Amino acid sequence: MFHYKNNRLYCENVPVETLADKAGTPLYVYSKNKLIENLNNYQQAFGGVNHLLCYAVKANSNAQLCKELFSRGAGADVTSGGELFRALKAGAKPEKIVFAGVGKSEDEIRYALKERIYMFNAESTEEIGLINKIAGQLKTKARLALRINPNVDAHTHKYITTGKSENKFGIAYQKAVEVYAFAKTCNNLTVSGIHCHIGSQITSVKPFYLMAKKMAELFMKLKKTGINIEHIDIGGGLGIKYHNEVPPNPQDLAKAVLPVLKPLNTKIILEPGRYITGNAGALVTKVIYRKAGLHKKFLIVDAGFNDLIRPALYEAYHLILPVNKSAHSHIADVVGPICETGDFLGKNRRLPLVKQGGLLAVMCAGAYGFAMSSQYNSRRRAAEVLVDKNNFKIVRKRETYEDLISKENSR
Ligand SMILES: Cc1ncc(COP(=O)(O)O)c(C=O)c1O
Repeated sequence: MFHYKNNRLYCENVPVETLADKAGTPLYVYSKNKLIENLNNYQQAFGGVNHLLCYAVKANSNAQLCKELFSRGAGADVTSGGELFRALKAGAKPEKIVFAGVGKSEDEIRYALKERIYMFNAESTEEIGLINKIAGQLKTKARLALRINPNVDAHTHKYITTGKSENKFGIAYQKAVEVYAFAKTCNNLTVSGIHCHIGSQITSVKPFYLMAKKMAELFMKLKKTGINIEHIDIGGGLGIKYHNEVPPNPQDLAKAVLPVLKPLNTKIILEPGRYITGNAGALVTKVIYRKAGLHKKFLIVDAGFNDLIRPALYEAYHLILPVNKSAHSHIADVVGPICETGDFLGKNRRLPLVKQGGLLAVMCAGAYGFAMSSQYNSRRRAAEVLVDKNNFKIVRKRETYEDLISKENSR
């Protein structure tokens, strides 16, 4: 949905330059129809089985984007009380909300129980005990799946690998039967699911297949001990193309896991985040200065790692495109205004010569972009716009200087 026409970059039918003129920069630009296409791709790939897609709100929690997804049948995968609040406000149905996370607090558990969410994905014996206790106090029953750590290598960046035994996530596969048996003894719990999420930006189906095999094995083991599992949650993690990757698509994923999982006759839960919003968004930024160093050229832009931290945090590659193409190019580092050397968006990029004040678009920034942004260096968080064919809407205003201090008390 991002494309060039007459050398100008468009999001759907709107020139990106028009969006920057109207809403300023740095600016997150999202394509509504790409978002919907991605959601439909996932839903269709698993259309032949009883499934529930719970969008991973952490990837992009903008209220309007979430609303678009929830109004089309998606549920929500949340990892905090704040995400639960956002999901409910944006119209997610409580019976389609799953709650993950290694460190759910007492308050968060109480809140989720009161809202009658579909499922807790519990990650430790102590958490199971606490959910049971709070459910008892509230005279209700909590529905529970156990997040299992299958010790499967997702072959992704070490910070976003979550399914290896040295990672903090989930209950060790070897201990799973024992922990299920414990959970079964808790009177205020209904234990009905197995959950796994092995990492993010996974670019091959093999780890998903290995994970599914382990889940199926566990399902059978539990059955033998009298524990019947009604749903299997395979998490999210499907990668997208940022650079040279050739990631599988949802159909490939379905082909890899369904032959293993379908015979179990359970409901399948899916928790995609990045796949849904990643390539539906770009971060548009303005060149403030151009500088020739001794060995390098720099384009100093008005977006920094407070706006998009992925390059600094994971050395992630984002394609950077000129909003207006020109014939001549050069190689430069695209860097932000923050006082840290790690503040870059791209290094050694061949880019058309951009004038001072020219615009660049950092592509595939729709997931873990704005959601991970901060006010570091007391920078106001960026605005966000959603484009729908010929129209666009500002779905989050740029923060003001007053916003920066509004919660502080200096009296
Ligand atoms: C439990 C859980 N589910 C789903 C996701 C979404 O992953 P992705 O955005 O890679 O699809 C994450 C992300 O880390 C997660 O922790």
